[in-house]
Amino acid sequence: MPYAIKETRTAVSKTESLLYQTFSRLNIGMPEQTSILLYLDIIKRRDPATYFHSLRVGILGSSMANHLSLNPKPLFYAGLLHDIGKALIDPHILRKTKGFNKKDFEEIKPHPLYGYFMLRDIHDFSAEILLRHHRFGHHPYPKKLPKSSAPYGKKTKKLIEKYARLLALADFYDALTTRKNDKFGKQHIRPGEIKNILIFYNRDVQGIIEELFRKGIFTEIPSSVFAKKEILPYLSLNEEIKNILLSAEHSLNLSERIARNVALAAALEPIPDKPGATTRLQDIKESKTLEMFVSGGVNIGLAFSHLADYIQKHRTAESSYQFCYQAMALSKIRRAGGKINQGIIEFLFPIAIAQSMHDPDSRKNILWILEKTKDVLKDTTPADVAWLIKMKRLGNRLSAVEHKYPVKVRNTSNVFNYYYQELRDEEKKRNTAGIIHNRQFVLVYPDVKRGLDAFLKSKEPKFAKRVIEAYEAIRNNPNNMRIGPGLASDFIAIILYLVFSYSASPIEEIIN
Ligand SMILES: [Fe+2]
Ligand SMILES: [Fe+2]
Repeated sequence: MPYAIKETRTAVSKTESLLYQTFSRLNIGMPEQTSILLYLDIIKRRDPATYFHSLRVGILGSSMANHLSLNPKPLFYAGLLHDIGKALIDPHILRKTKGFNKKDFEEIKPHPLYGYFMLRDIHDFSAEILLRHHRFGHHPYPKKLPKSSAPYGKKTKKLIEKYARLLALADFYDALTTRKNDKFGKQHIRPGEIKNILIFYNRDVQGIIEELFRKGIFTEIPSSVFAKKEILPYLSLNEEIKNILLSAEHSLNLSERIARNVALAAALEPIPDKPGATTRLQDIKESKTLEMFVSGGVNIGLAFSHLADYIQKHRTAESSYQFCYQAMALSKIRRAGGKINQGIIEFLFPIAIAQSMHDPDSRKNILWILEKTKDVLKDTTPADVAWLIKMKRLGNRLSAVEHKYPVKVRNTSNVFNYYYQELRDEEKKRNTAGIIHNRQFVLVYPDVKRGLDAFLKSKEPKFAKRVIEAYEAIRNNPNNMRIGPGLASDFIAIILYLVFSYSASPIEEIIN
Protein backbone atom coordinates (compact mmCIF):
# COMPACT_ATOMS: atom_id res chain seq x y z
CA MET A 1 0.00 0.00 0.00
CA PRO A 2 1.45 3.37 -0.91
CA TYR A 3 -0.30 5.10 1.96
CA ALA A 4 -0.71 3.80 5.46
CA ILE A 5 -4.18 4.66 6.60
CA LYS A 6 -5.61 3.74 9.93
CA GLU A 7 -9.16 4.96 10.31
CA THR A 8 -11.68 4.26 12.99
CA ARG A 9 -15.18 5.51 13.35
CA THR A 10 -14.26 7.76 16.25
CA ALA A 11 -11.17 9.29 14.73
CA VAL A 12 -10.44 11.66 11.91
CA SER A 13 -7.02 11.85 10.36
CA LYS A 14 -5.01 15.02 10.39
CA THR A 15 -5.77 15.64 6.75
CA GLU A 16 -9.48 15.33 7.41
CA SER A 17 -9.17 17.71 10.30
CA LEU A 18 -7.52 20.19 7.91
CA LEU A 19 -10.42 19.64 5.53
CA TYR A 20 -12.93 20.70 8.19
CA GLN A 21 -10.79 23.67 9.12
CA THR A 22 -10.77 24.76 5.49
CA PHE A 23 -14.55 24.34 5.22
CA SER A 24 -14.90 26.61 8.20
CA ARG A 25 -12.26 29.12 7.09
CA LEU A 26 -13.89 29.52 3.69
CA ASN A 27 -17.32 29.80 5.31
CA ILE A 28 -18.73 26.95 3.29
CA GLY A 29 -22.32 26.28 4.28
CA MET A 30 -23.72 22.95 5.42
CA PRO A 31 -25.57 22.02 2.18
CA GLU A 32 -22.40 22.49 0.11
CA GLN A 33 -20.27 20.63 2.67
CA THR A 34 -22.70 17.74 2.75
CA SER A 35 -22.77 17.46 -1.02
CA ILE A 36 -18.99 17.44 -1.33
CA LEU A 37 -18.59 15.00 1.56
CA LEU A 38 -21.03 12.62 -0.14
CA TYR A 39 -18.88 12.53 -3.26
CA LEU A 40 -15.73 12.18 -1.21
CA ASP A 41 -17.27 9.29 0.71
CA ILE A 42 -17.64 7.33 -2.52
CA ILE A 43 -13.97 7.70 -3.39
CA LYS A 44 -13.00 7.01 0.23
CA ARG A 45 -14.77 3.66 0.11
CA ARG A 46 -13.39 2.78 -3.31
CA ASP A 47 -9.78 3.82 -2.76
CA PRO A 48 -8.61 5.56 0.43
CA ALA A 49 -5.31 6.64 -1.13
CA THR A 50 -7.11 8.59 -3.85
CA TYR A 51 -9.43 10.02 -1.20
CA PHE A 52 -6.55 11.41 0.88
CA HIS A 53 -4.78 12.60 -2.27
CA SER A 54 -7.97 14.50 -3.19
CA LEU A 55 -8.19 16.13 0.24
CA ARG A 56 -4.58 17.25 0.06
CA VAL A 57 -4.96 18.64 -3.46
CA GLY A 58 -8.09 20.56 -2.44
CA ILE A 59 -6.51 22.02 0.69
CA LEU A 60 -3.27 22.84 -1.12
CA GLY A 61 -5.25 24.35 -4.02
CA SER A 62 -7.13 26.66 -1.68
CA SER A 63 -3.94 27.98 -0.10
CA MET A 64 -2.30 28.37 -3.53
CA ALA A 65 -5.28 30.46 -4.65
CA ASN A 66 -5.12 32.50 -1.45
CA HIS A 67 -1.49 33.37 -2.01
CA LEU A 68 -2.04 34.15 -5.67
CA SER A 69 -4.90 36.51 -4.75
CA LEU A 70 -7.54 34.31 -6.36
CA ASN A 71 -10.82 33.08 -4.94
CA PRO A 72 -9.84 29.91 -3.03
CA LYS A 73 -13.23 28.19 -3.29
CA PRO A 74 -13.12 26.98 -6.92
CA LEU A 75 -9.70 25.37 -6.45
CA PHE A 76 -10.75 23.89 -3.12
CA TYR A 77 -13.89 22.27 -4.60
CA ALA A 78 -12.25 21.19 -7.84
CA GLY A 79 -9.22 19.86 -5.95
CA LEU A 80 -11.37 17.79 -3.61
CA LEU A 81 -13.36 16.37 -6.50
CA HIS A 82 -10.77 16.23 -9.29
CA ASP A 83 -10.26 12.46 -9.18
CA ILE A 84 -13.84 11.52 -8.29
CA GLY A 85 -14.05 9.81 -11.71
CA LYS A 86 -11.59 7.23 -10.39
CA ALA A 87 -14.46 5.84 -8.33
CA LEU A 88 -15.57 4.17 -11.57
CA ILE A 89 -12.18 2.55 -12.19
CA ASP A 90 -11.07 -0.85 -10.93
CA PRO A 91 -9.43 -0.16 -7.54
CA HIS A 92 -6.80 -2.82 -8.25
CA ILE A 93 -5.41 -0.63 -11.00
CA LEU A 94 -5.53 2.45 -8.79
CA ARG A 95 -3.62 0.64 -6.05
CA LYS A 96 -0.84 -0.66 -8.30
CA THR A 97 2.51 0.68 -7.20
CA LYS A 98 4.62 -1.44 -9.53
CA GLY A 99 4.33 -2.61 -13.11
CA PHE A 100 1.95 0.11 -14.20
CA ASN A 101 1.52 -0.53 -17.93
CA LYS A 102 -0.03 1.06 -21.01
CA LYS A 103 -3.24 -0.92 -20.64
CA ASP A 104 -3.66 0.36 -17.07
CA PHE A 105 -3.09 3.89 -18.29
CA GLU A 106 -5.83 3.48 -20.92
CA GLU A 107 -8.20 2.33 -18.15
CA ILE A 108 -7.41 5.34 -15.99
CA LYS A 109 -7.43 7.92 -18.77
CA PRO A 110 -11.21 8.51 -18.90
CA HIS A 111 -11.38 9.54 -15.20
CA PRO A 112 -11.61 13.30 -15.90
CA LEU A 113 -14.55 12.60 -18.24
CA TYR A 114 -16.22 10.30 -15.69
CA GLY A 115 -15.78 12.96 -13.02
CA TYR A 116 -17.15 15.60 -15.31
CA PHE A 117 -20.33 13.65 -15.98
CA MET A 118 -20.75 12.77 -12.30
CA LEU A 119 -20.64 16.41 -11.28
CA ARG A 120 -22.11 18.25 -14.24
CA ASP A 121 -25.23 20.31 -13.39
CA ILE A 122 -24.50 19.78 -9.66
CA HIS A 123 -21.07 21.35 -9.19
CA ASP A 124 -20.87 22.65 -12.70
CA PHE A 125 -17.97 25.06 -12.41
CA SER A 126 -15.85 22.48 -10.58
CA ALA A 127 -16.79 19.91 -13.20
CA GLU A 128 -15.44 22.16 -15.95
CA ILE A 129 -12.19 22.72 -14.04
CA LEU A 130 -11.52 19.09 -13.18
CA LEU A 131 -12.30 17.98 -16.72
CA ARG A 132 -9.09 19.75 -17.75
CA HIS A 133 -6.73 18.69 -14.97
CA HIS A 134 -4.67 16.35 -17.15
CA ARG A 135 -4.48 18.60 -20.20
CA PHE A 136 -1.26 20.40 -19.27
CA GLY A 137 1.25 17.56 -18.97
CA HIS A 138 3.49 15.99 -21.58
CA HIS A 139 0.72 13.54 -22.55
CA PRO A 140 -2.46 15.59 -22.23
CA TYR A 141 -5.91 13.99 -22.03
CA PRO A 142 -8.80 13.99 -22.76
CA LYS A 143 -8.00 15.23 -26.24
CA LYS A 144 -11.58 16.22 -27.01
CA LEU A 145 -13.82 17.95 -24.48
CA PRO A 146 -17.57 17.35 -24.30
CA LYS A 147 -19.77 20.33 -25.06
CA SER A 148 -20.34 22.30 -21.89
CA SER A 149 -23.88 22.31 -20.51
CA ALA A 150 -23.79 25.87 -19.20
CA PRO A 151 -23.41 28.84 -21.54
CA TYR A 152 -20.15 30.19 -20.12
CA GLY A 153 -18.87 33.51 -21.45
CA LYS A 154 -15.36 34.17 -22.71
CA LYS A 155 -14.17 35.54 -19.36
CA THR A 156 -15.47 32.56 -17.40
CA LYS A 157 -13.92 30.14 -19.87
CA LYS A 158 -10.56 31.83 -19.37
CA LEU A 159 -10.99 31.57 -15.61
CA ILE A 160 -11.80 27.86 -15.92
CA GLU A 161 -8.55 27.35 -17.86
CA LYS A 162 -6.60 29.29 -15.24
CA TYR A 163 -8.00 27.28 -12.33
CA ALA A 164 -7.50 24.04 -14.23
CA ARG A 165 -3.85 24.92 -14.78
CA LEU A 166 -3.35 25.54 -11.07
CA LEU A 167 -5.25 22.38 -10.18
CA ALA A 168 -2.94 20.38 -12.46
CA LEU A 169 0.02 21.94 -10.67
CA ALA A 170 -1.34 21.09 -7.20
CA ASP A 171 -2.06 17.55 -8.40
CA PHE A 172 1.47 17.21 -9.76
CA TYR A 173 3.04 18.61 -6.57
CA ASP A 174 1.10 16.21 -4.37
CA ALA A 175 1.94 13.19 -6.51
CA LEU A 176 5.59 14.21 -6.53
CA THR A 177 5.85 14.72 -2.79
CA THR A 178 3.71 11.91 -1.44
CA ARG A 179 3.41 9.06 -3.93
CA LYS A 180 5.83 6.23 -3.43
CA ASN A 181 5.55 4.28 -6.64
CA ASP A 182 7.04 4.01 -10.10
CA LYS A 183 3.91 5.15 -11.90
CA PHE A 184 5.71 8.19 -13.26
CA GLY A 185 9.20 6.74 -13.19
CA LYS A 186 9.99 9.16 -10.38
CA GLN A 187 11.27 7.35 -7.37
CA HIS A 188 13.20 8.52 -4.37
CA ILE A 189 12.71 12.24 -4.81
CA ARG A 190 15.19 13.95 -2.56
CA PRO A 191 14.68 17.30 -0.83
CA GLY A 192 16.21 19.93 -3.09
CA GLU A 193 14.95 18.25 -6.25
CA ILE A 194 11.30 19.07 -5.94
CA LYS A 195 11.44 22.60 -7.32
CA ASN A 196 13.58 21.57 -10.27
CA ILE A 197 11.32 18.68 -11.19
CA LEU A 198 8.21 20.85 -10.83
CA ILE A 199 9.67 23.48 -13.15
CA PHE A 200 10.95 20.91 -15.64
CA TYR A 201 7.47 19.47 -16.13
CA ASN A 202 5.58 22.76 -15.77
CA ARG A 203 7.65 25.38 -17.56
CA ASP A 204 4.65 27.48 -18.54
CA VAL A 205 4.00 28.29 -14.86
CA GLN A 206 7.60 28.60 -13.67
CA GLY A 207 6.95 32.07 -12.20
CA ILE A 208 4.03 30.79 -10.15
CA ILE A 209 6.05 27.81 -8.90
CA GLU A 210 8.83 30.10 -7.76
CA GLU A 211 6.39 32.41 -6.04
CA LEU A 212 4.75 29.49 -4.21
CA PHE A 213 8.16 28.33 -2.99
CA ARG A 214 8.98 31.84 -1.83
CA LYS A 215 5.74 31.96 0.10
CA GLY A 216 6.31 28.54 1.63
CA ILE A 217 3.23 26.97 0.05
CA PHE A 218 5.49 24.57 -1.81
CA THR A 219 8.47 23.20 0.10
CA GLU A 220 11.40 20.95 -0.56
CA ILE A 221 10.43 18.64 2.27
CA PRO A 222 8.48 15.72 0.81
CA SER A 223 5.11 15.14 2.47
CA SER A 224 5.82 17.77 5.07
CA VAL A 225 2.38 19.32 4.82
CA PHE A 226 0.33 16.35 5.74
CA ALA A 227 1.24 13.67 8.18
CA LYS A 228 -0.50 10.62 6.87
CA LYS A 229 -0.25 8.23 9.75
CA GLU A 230 -1.14 10.41 12.68
CA ILE A 231 -4.64 10.32 14.05
CA LEU A 232 -6.26 13.12 16.03
CA PRO A 233 -8.92 12.52 18.63
CA TYR A 234 -12.30 13.07 17.07
CA LEU A 235 -13.10 16.75 16.84
CA SER A 236 -15.59 18.02 14.36
CA LEU A 237 -14.53 21.60 13.83
CA ASN A 238 -17.78 22.83 12.41
CA GLU A 239 -19.30 26.24 13.01
CA GLU A 240 -21.18 25.15 16.11
CA ILE A 241 -18.12 23.77 17.91
CA LYS A 242 -16.09 26.77 16.83
CA ASN A 243 -18.65 29.11 18.35
CA ILE A 244 -18.75 27.18 21.62
CA LEU A 245 -14.98 27.50 21.91
CA LEU A 246 -15.03 31.15 20.92
CA SER A 247 -17.55 32.09 23.57
CA ALA A 248 -15.64 30.08 26.17
CA GLU A 249 -12.56 32.07 25.27
CA HIS A 250 -14.47 35.33 25.46
CA SER A 251 -15.76 34.43 28.92
CA LEU A 252 -12.22 34.97 30.22
CA ASN A 253 -11.39 38.53 31.19
CA LEU A 254 -8.19 40.24 30.10
CA SER A 255 -6.08 39.32 33.10
CA GLU A 256 -7.24 35.71 32.98
CA ARG A 257 -6.39 35.52 29.30
CA ILE A 258 -2.98 37.07 29.84
CA ALA A 259 -2.25 34.74 32.76
CA ARG A 260 -3.30 31.73 30.73
CA ASN A 261 -1.22 32.65 27.71
CA VAL A 262 1.86 33.54 29.76
CA ALA A 263 1.58 30.24 31.63
CA LEU A 264 1.15 28.24 28.43
CA ALA A 265 3.95 30.01 26.61
CA ALA A 266 6.44 29.51 29.42
CA ALA A 267 5.41 25.89 29.92
CA LEU A 268 5.78 25.12 26.21
CA GLU A 269 9.13 26.83 25.84
CA PRO A 270 11.47 23.80 26.02
CA ILE A 271 12.27 22.62 22.57
CA PRO A 272 13.82 19.48 21.23
CA ASP A 273 17.27 20.57 20.14
CA LYS A 274 18.31 23.02 22.81
CA PRO A 275 21.66 21.64 23.95
CA GLY A 276 21.77 20.70 27.59
CA ALA A 277 18.15 21.50 28.19
CA THR A 278 15.00 19.54 28.63
CA THR A 279 13.36 18.12 25.59
CA ARG A 280 9.83 16.87 25.56
CA LEU A 281 11.27 13.37 25.69
CA GLN A 282 13.97 13.62 28.30
CA ASP A 283 15.12 15.71 31.21
CA ILE A 284 18.80 16.55 30.89
CA LYS A 285 19.37 19.06 33.65
CA GLU A 286 17.62 18.99 36.99
CA SER A 287 17.00 22.70 36.87
CA LYS A 288 15.41 22.32 33.46
CA THR A 289 12.97 19.48 33.85
CA LEU A 290 9.58 19.77 32.27
CA GLU A 291 8.19 20.23 35.79
CA MET A 292 10.30 23.38 36.08
CA PHE A 293 8.86 24.88 32.95
CA VAL A 294 5.28 24.07 33.83
CA SER A 295 5.48 25.33 37.43
CA GLY A 296 7.36 28.45 36.31
CA GLY A 297 4.71 29.25 33.75
CA VAL A 298 1.87 28.95 36.23
CA ASN A 299 3.74 31.08 38.79
CA ILE A 300 4.60 33.99 36.55
CA GLY A 301 1.22 33.88 34.83
CA LEU A 302 -0.31 35.04 38.10
CA ALA A 303 2.00 38.05 38.37
CA PHE A 304 1.01 39.09 34.88
CA SER A 305 -2.66 38.94 35.79
CA HIS A 306 -1.92 41.35 38.67
CA LEU A 307 -0.18 43.62 36.18
CA ALA A 308 -3.19 43.59 33.84
CA ASP A 309 -5.58 44.36 36.72
CA TYR A 310 -3.40 47.24 37.86
CA ILE A 311 -3.13 48.82 34.41
CA GLN A 312 -6.83 48.51 33.72
CA LYS A 313 -7.59 50.20 37.01
CA HIS A 314 -5.05 53.03 36.80
CA ARG A 315 -4.83 53.44 33.00
CA THR A 316 -1.10 54.12 33.08
CA ALA A 317 2.17 52.25 32.75
CA GLU A 318 3.62 54.29 35.63
CA SER A 319 4.65 52.11 38.57
CA SER A 320 3.79 48.98 36.63
CA TYR A 321 7.30 47.55 37.03
CA GLN A 322 6.64 46.68 40.66
CA PHE A 323 4.83 43.66 39.16
CA CYS A 324 7.93 42.75 37.22
CA TYR A 325 9.70 42.38 40.56
CA GLN A 326 6.73 40.46 41.91
CA ALA A 327 6.81 38.13 38.90
CA MET A 328 10.44 37.35 39.60
CA ALA A 329 9.71 36.53 43.22
CA LEU A 330 6.65 34.47 42.35
CA SER A 331 8.53 32.56 39.69
CA LYS A 332 10.55 30.87 42.39
CA ILE A 333 7.75 29.65 44.61
CA ARG A 334 7.88 25.91 45.27
CA ARG A 335 10.57 25.49 42.67
CA ALA A 336 14.10 24.20 43.13
CA GLY A 337 16.94 24.84 40.73
CA GLY A 338 18.30 27.97 39.11
CA LYS A 339 15.58 28.50 36.56
CA ILE A 340 13.96 31.84 37.14
CA ASN A 341 12.26 32.86 33.87
CA GLN A 342 13.94 36.25 33.93
CA GLY A 343 14.11 36.57 30.16
CA ILE A 344 10.49 35.63 29.63
CA ILE A 345 9.33 38.03 32.33
CA GLU A 346 11.33 40.94 30.94
CA PHE A 347 10.43 40.38 27.30
CA LEU A 348 6.74 39.77 27.95
CA PHE A 349 6.34 42.65 30.32
CA PRO A 350 6.10 45.56 27.85
CA ILE A 351 3.82 43.46 25.64
CA ALA A 352 1.37 42.74 28.46
CA ILE A 353 1.38 46.42 29.46
CA ALA A 354 0.67 47.48 25.87
CA GLN A 355 -2.18 44.98 25.65
CA SER A 356 -3.73 46.07 28.93
CA MET A 357 -3.43 49.75 28.02
CA HIS A 358 -4.32 49.77 24.36
CA ASP A 359 -5.89 46.51 23.30
CA PRO A 360 -7.80 44.82 26.12
CA ASP A 361 -10.10 42.99 23.68
CA SER A 362 -7.28 41.67 21.48
CA ARG A 363 -8.68 43.37 18.40
CA LYS A 364 -5.34 44.53 17.03
CA ASN A 365 -2.59 42.33 15.68
CA ILE A 366 0.82 41.14 16.78
CA LEU A 367 2.88 43.73 14.94
CA TRP A 368 0.69 46.57 16.12
CA ILE A 369 1.01 45.54 19.75
CA LEU A 370 4.79 45.08 19.45
CA GLU A 371 5.07 48.59 18.01
CA LYS A 372 3.13 49.94 21.03
CA THR A 373 5.67 48.56 23.50
CA LYS A 374 8.02 51.40 22.63
CA ASP A 375 5.44 53.99 23.75
CA VAL A 376 4.51 52.19 26.95
CA LEU A 377 8.15 51.83 27.97
CA LYS A 378 8.54 55.58 27.52
CA ASP A 379 5.49 56.12 29.75
CA THR A 380 7.26 54.57 32.73
CA THR A 381 9.09 56.50 35.46
CA PRO A 382 12.45 56.41 37.30
CA ALA A 383 10.66 54.38 39.97
CA ASP A 384 9.96 51.73 37.32
CA VAL A 385 13.63 51.67 36.36
CA ALA A 386 14.43 51.09 40.03
CA TRP A 387 11.95 48.18 40.18
CA LEU A 388 13.46 46.68 37.04
CA ILE A 389 16.95 46.85 38.53
CA LYS A 390 15.64 45.33 41.76
CA MET A 391 14.05 42.58 39.74
CA LYS A 392 17.28 41.80 37.91
CA ARG A 393 19.22 41.69 41.17
CA LEU A 394 16.67 39.41 42.75
CA GLY A 395 16.88 37.15 39.71
CA ASN A 396 20.64 36.94 40.00
CA ARG A 397 20.38 36.14 43.71
CA LEU A 398 17.77 33.47 43.13
CA SER A 399 20.02 31.76 40.65
CA ALA A 400 23.16 32.45 42.71
CA VAL A 401 25.00 34.54 40.13
CA GLU A 402 24.83 37.95 41.85
CA HIS A 403 28.62 38.20 42.05
CA LYS A 404 29.16 37.10 38.50
CA TYR A 405 26.67 39.54 36.98
CA PRO A 406 26.42 42.72 39.03
CA VAL A 407 23.53 44.92 37.91
CA LYS A 408 24.48 48.55 37.33
CA VAL A 409 22.32 51.35 38.77
CA ARG A 410 21.16 53.83 36.17
CA ASN A 411 19.37 57.06 36.82
CA THR A 412 17.27 57.27 33.71
CA SER A 413 13.87 58.83 33.16
CA ASN A 414 12.11 55.70 31.99
CA VAL A 415 12.56 52.01 31.20
CA PHE A 416 12.98 52.63 27.47
CA ASN A 417 15.97 54.89 28.11
CA TYR A 418 17.34 52.35 30.55
CA TYR A 419 17.40 49.67 27.84
CA TYR A 420 18.77 52.20 25.35
CA GLN A 421 21.74 52.96 27.61
CA GLU A 422 22.27 49.28 28.36
CA LEU A 423 22.32 48.57 24.63
CA ARG A 424 24.94 51.26 24.01
CA ASP A 425 27.11 49.89 26.81
CA GLU A 426 26.83 46.31 25.60
CA GLU A 427 27.71 47.44 22.10
CA LYS A 428 30.85 49.09 23.41
CA LYS A 429 31.72 45.88 25.25
CA ARG A 430 30.81 43.85 22.12
CA ASN A 431 28.78 41.54 24.32
CA THR A 432 26.53 39.63 21.91
CA ALA A 433 24.05 38.33 24.49
CA GLY A 434 23.71 41.78 26.04
CA ILE A 435 23.19 43.43 22.67
CA ILE A 436 20.56 40.94 21.64
CA HIS A 437 18.75 41.17 24.96
CA ASN A 438 18.51 44.96 24.98
CA ARG A 439 17.80 45.51 21.32
CA GLN A 440 14.49 43.71 21.68
CA PHE A 441 13.20 46.68 23.69
CA VAL A 442 14.91 49.44 21.75
CA LEU A 443 14.38 48.11 18.22
CA VAL A 444 10.96 46.50 18.78
CA TYR A 445 11.73 42.78 19.06
CA PRO A 446 13.67 42.22 15.82
CA ASP A 447 14.75 38.68 16.68
CA VAL A 448 11.36 37.68 18.02
CA LYS A 449 9.81 38.90 14.76
CA ARG A 450 12.13 36.74 12.68
CA GLY A 451 11.16 33.61 14.61
CA LEU A 452 7.51 34.58 14.55
CA ASP A 453 7.62 34.88 10.79
CA ALA A 454 9.05 31.38 10.47
CA PHE A 455 6.47 29.99 12.91
CA LEU A 456 3.55 31.51 11.05
CA LYS A 457 4.86 30.49 7.62
CA SER A 458 5.65 26.95 8.65
CA LYS A 459 3.47 24.31 7.07
CA GLU A 460 4.42 21.66 9.61
CA PRO A 461 1.25 20.22 11.12
CA LYS A 462 3.13 19.26 14.26
CA PHE A 463 3.23 22.17 16.69
CA ALA A 464 6.61 21.20 18.17
CA LYS A 465 8.12 21.11 14.69
CA ARG A 466 6.85 24.59 13.92
CA VAL A 467 8.51 25.68 17.15
CA ILE A 468 11.80 24.19 15.97
CA GLU A 469 11.55 26.03 12.66
CA ALA A 470 11.04 29.28 14.56
CA TYR A 471 13.95 28.45 16.85
CA GLU A 472 16.25 27.83 13.90
CA ALA A 473 15.19 31.07 12.24
CA ILE A 474 16.09 32.93 15.44
CA ARG A 475 19.45 31.21 15.78
CA ASN A 476 20.40 31.74 12.14
CA ASN A 477 20.46 35.43 12.41
CA PRO A 478 21.60 37.29 9.29
CA ASN A 479 24.12 39.65 10.89
CA ASN A 480 26.21 36.81 12.19
CA MET A 481 25.51 37.34 15.86
CA ARG A 482 24.84 33.82 17.02
CA ILE A 483 21.96 33.88 19.48
CA GLY A 484 22.49 31.47 22.35
CA PRO A 485 20.04 28.64 23.03
CA GLY A 486 18.78 30.19 26.27
CA LEU A 487 17.90 33.51 24.71
CA ALA A 488 16.49 31.88 21.59
CA SER A 489 14.23 29.74 23.80
CA ASP A 490 13.02 32.84 25.61
CA PHE A 491 12.04 34.28 22.24
CA ILE A 492 10.16 31.08 21.53
CA ALA A 493 8.06 31.67 24.64
CA ILE A 494 7.35 35.24 23.48
CA ILE A 495 6.32 33.99 20.05
CA LEU A 496 4.00 31.41 21.58
CA TYR A 497 2.48 34.06 23.82
CA LEU A 498 1.83 36.37 20.88
CA VAL A 499 0.41 33.61 18.75
CA PHE A 500 -1.94 32.41 21.50
CA SER A 501 -3.02 35.99 22.22
CA TYR A 502 -3.67 36.94 18.62
CA SER A 503 -4.68 33.86 16.65
CA ALA A 504 -8.04 34.48 15.05
CA SER A 505 -9.91 31.72 16.81
CA PRO A 506 -9.44 29.14 19.55
CA ILE A 507 -9.20 26.39 16.97
CA GLU A 508 -6.14 27.94 15.36
CA GLU A 509 -2.55 27.37 16.47
CA ILE A 510 -3.51 24.09 18.07
CA ILE A 511 -1.00 22.45 20.33
CA ASN A 512 -0.69 18.83 19.32
FE1 LIG B 1 -6.35 12.80 -12.02
FE1 LIG C 1 -5.02 13.54 -8.94
